[in-house]
Amino acid sequence: MPKRRAKNLKNLKRLKNRCILLGVSGGVAAYKSVELARRLTDEEASVFVVMTEAAKQFATPLSFETASHNRVYSSLFDEPMAHISLPAKADCMVVAPATANTIAKFAHGLADDLLSTCFLSFRGNVIVAPSMNWKMYDNPVVRRNLDALASAGVAQVGPGSGALACGEEGVGRMAEPAEIVEAVRAALSEKNLSGERVVITAGPTREYLDPVRFISNRSSGKMGYALARTARDRGAEVTLISGPSFLGKPAGVAYIGVETTSEMLGAVTEAVAKGATVLVMAAAVADFSPVRESRLKIEKGRGLTLKLSPTKDIVTSVSSSRKRPFIIGFAAETGSRADRAAKKMKEKKMDMIVFNDVTEPGAGFDVDTNKVEIIDRRGRIHTGLMSKDDVADAIFDRFLEIKA
Ligand code: C5P
Repeated sequence: MPKRRAKNLKNLKRLKNRCILLGVSGGVAAYKSVELARRLTDEEASVFVVMTEAAKQFATPLSFETASHNRVYSSLFDEPMAHISLPAKADCMVVAPATANTIAKFAHGLADDLLSTCFLSFRGNVIVAPSMNWKMYDNPVVRRNLDALASAGVAQVGPGSGALACGEEGVGRMAEPAEIVEAVRAALSEKNLSGERVVITAGPTREYLDPVRFISNRSSGKMGYALARTARDRGAEVTLISGPSFLGKPAGVAYIGVETTSEMLGAVTEAVAKGATVLVMAAAVADFSPVRESRLKIEKGRGLTLKLSPTKDIVTSVSSSRKRPFIIGFAAETGSRADRAAKKMKEKKMDMIVFNDVTEPGAGFDVDTNKVEIIDRRGRIHTGLMSKDDVADAIFDRFLEIKA
C-alpha cells in the first residue's frame, strides 16, 4: 500500500445543493413537516415550500420560512409562473402531509391551486406521505387514487399506525420526518450499485454462558444498517445479517436475524454462496466464546472463572474461499491505530478496511455520526466527522473507484 498522506473527504452529503420542493397540504401533521424542512436544510438541500390554503390553518408560513430559509409559496397568482419555475428547479418533490383531497386532486389531474399545478408540471421523482383518519385511508376510493399515483410513478412513504389526531387508533399517521428524508435520499440516489449483490453484517453477536447470560459488546448496528439502506438506495440487492439490535428492519432488503457468532458465520456463508459480489463485515463479532455453555442457569456462588476460546473468524473463512466477493471489513480501535487496521486488512485478506477510533467524540457507539479512515491497496481516505449515512456513501464511492 502506498505510504501517501490520507486524502481528506469533506462535505460528502447526498442532499447537498439538491433542490427539494416540499408540498404541505392541510392535515394536522403539517407541523411535523416543519421539522422535515429543517432536516432537509440541515443536509444542505435547498428547500422551497408550497402550502395549500388549508395547510395554513395547521402551521404558519413563517415556521416554514424559518425552517427552509426561503420564502413560502401558496397562491397561484402571487407569482404567476411559480407553478412552472419552482418545479423546473427542483430535483425532487415531496408532499407531506398528503391529505385525501390532495391525493385525489393529483390522481385526477385537477389543477386549481399552486400545489396541484406544480405536481402536474414537475418532471422528477415525487413522494407522497399520506396522512388521514384510518377509515379514510381504508376507503377504496382513496386506495384507488393512491394506486393511480403509484402507476404514474409516484412513491409513497407511510402512513404508519398508531394514535391519530381524532383520538382513534389505526393506519393513517404521517411517516416520521426521518423516514421521509430517507425516502428523499433514495429518490435522489444514482443507481450506481445496480447489479451488485451486497451482503452486510451489522450489530453485535452474543455468546451464551448459560440460558440467561451472555457476553456481547456495545455495537448498536447503526453503521451496518446505514450501509444496508445506502446500498439499497444505490440499486444493489442487499442482504442484511444482523445481530440483536433495537433498530427497525430497513424496507427493501433481505433481513436475516442472528444471535451468536456461529449463526452469523452460517448465514454469511450461505448468503455468499448464493453469489454475493460484495461482503461488508460491519458487525462487531464477539471475539471470545465460553468454552462450555451450561444447559442450566449457573448458580450464584462466590465467584466464577470463565474459560473463553476465540470465535471462528468470519472474514477469514470467506476470504480464503475460492469464489470470494470483494470484502470490506471494519476495525474499531481505541486510539489512532490505522496502521494496525491496515495490517489486519492484509492478514485477513480483505480488499478494504474501515478504521475508526471509538474514543473520538462522535465516532463511538450508538451515535448517528462517525469519523473513519478508509484503507485499501491504493491509499487512505479520511472522511472527517459525518453522518453514518454519508460514511456509507463514502465507502461505496471508494468501492466503485477501486472496482473501475
Ligand atoms: O480483529 P478484529 O475483530 O478487529 O477484526 C474486525 C473485522 O473482522 C470486522 O470486519 C469484523 O466484522 C470481522 N470479524 C469476523 N469474525 C470474527 C471477528 C471479527 O469476521 N470472529
